[in-house]
Amino acid sequence: MPPPDETISWIGGIDAAAAPQNIAYLADLDDPALRAAIQLPPNMEDRARAMTYGEAARERFLSRRAVLRQLLAARLGCPVESVAVGTDDFGAPRLSAPLTRVPHFLSISARGAFAAFAIAERPIGIDIEILGEPEPVPQDALHADEAARLMALNEAGRHEAFLEIWTVKEAYFKALRTGLAREPNEVKTQRGPDATVYIIDRGAQVAAQATLHKFRRRVSTTIIAACVTL
Ligand SMILES: CC(C)(COP(=O)(O)OP(=O)(O)OC[C@H]1O[C@@H](n2cnc3c(N)ncnc32)[C@H](O)[C@@H]1OP(=O)(O)O)[C@@H](O)C(=O)NCCC(=O)NCCS
Repeated sequence: MPPPDETISWIGGIDAAAAPQNIAYLADLDDPALRAAIQLPPNMEDRARAMTYGEAARERFLSRRAVLRQLLAARLGCPVESVAVGTDDFGAPRLSAPLTRVPHFLSISARGAFAAFAIAERPIGIDIEILGEPEPVPQDALHADEAARLMALNEAGRHEAFLEIWTVKEAYFKALRTGLAREPNEVKTQRGPDATVYIIDRGAQVAAQATLHKFRRRVSTTIIAACVTL
C-alpha cells in the first residue's frame, strides 16, 4: 500500500504557492479578496484556450487562468507576465513558459465560481464536486464492489459516497491525461486511513497517492475535492 499523501499541501492563498511542496488551492472566484488577481490581462495562450469555451463560460475560464498564472508566478518567483499556460495534446494544462529546471505538472477543476488548482513536480490530477441534493447514482461509473458498498447506504450517504468516488476517478484520469476516454468502472477506489484513497485499476493497485478532502465554503456549501499524484 502506498503511504498516506504527504506531498500535497492545500494552501490558503496565492502567495503561499511559493512553498516548495506540491500544492493545491481551492478558490472562490467571487471572493472579493481575489478581485485584483482575476483582473490580470489574458495573454495569447489564455485567449487561444478561451475560444474553446462558449461565451457564457469564457469569463470564468479567464479568471481561472489568471489565478493559475499568479500561483505559478509565486511558485517560480517570476513576474506573472512571463508565465504562460498552454494545453497539451490531451487537453491537460501545461506550463509553456518560463522554462524550469524541474518539470511542473498542472491540473485544474471548476464548478461554478469554485476552482481548484494543483501544481506538482509529478503528474497530478485534481477534481472537485459540489455536494448538492441527492441524485440517482450513475451505476455504470462504478466498479461492482463500489456499487455493492453504495447499496448499503441511505440516499444522502450514497450520493456523497458517489461524489467521493467520482472525484477520485476524475482526478486519476486527469493525472493519467486520458480524461474520460477511460472507462470509470474499470477502476475501483477504496478509502484508507485519514484522507487516503487507494486506487485499483483493472485489478492492480496503482502506485499513486490519492487523497480526498471536504471543504465548507459560503456558510453552507460543501465541496468534495480529490488529488491524485502518480
Ligand atoms: C478532463 C475531463 C475529465 C474534465 O472534466 P470536467 O468535469 O468536464 O471539468 P473540470 O472542470 O473538472 O476539468 C476541466 C479541466 O480539465 C483539464 N483537462 C481536459 N482534458 C484533460 C486531460 N485529458 N487530462 C488532464 N486534464 C484535462 C483542463 O485543464 C480543463 O480546464 P481548462 O479548460 O481550464 O484548462 C473531461 O472533460 C474529459 O474527459 N475531457 C477529455 C475529452 C475526452 O477525453 N473525451 C473522450 C474522447 S473519446
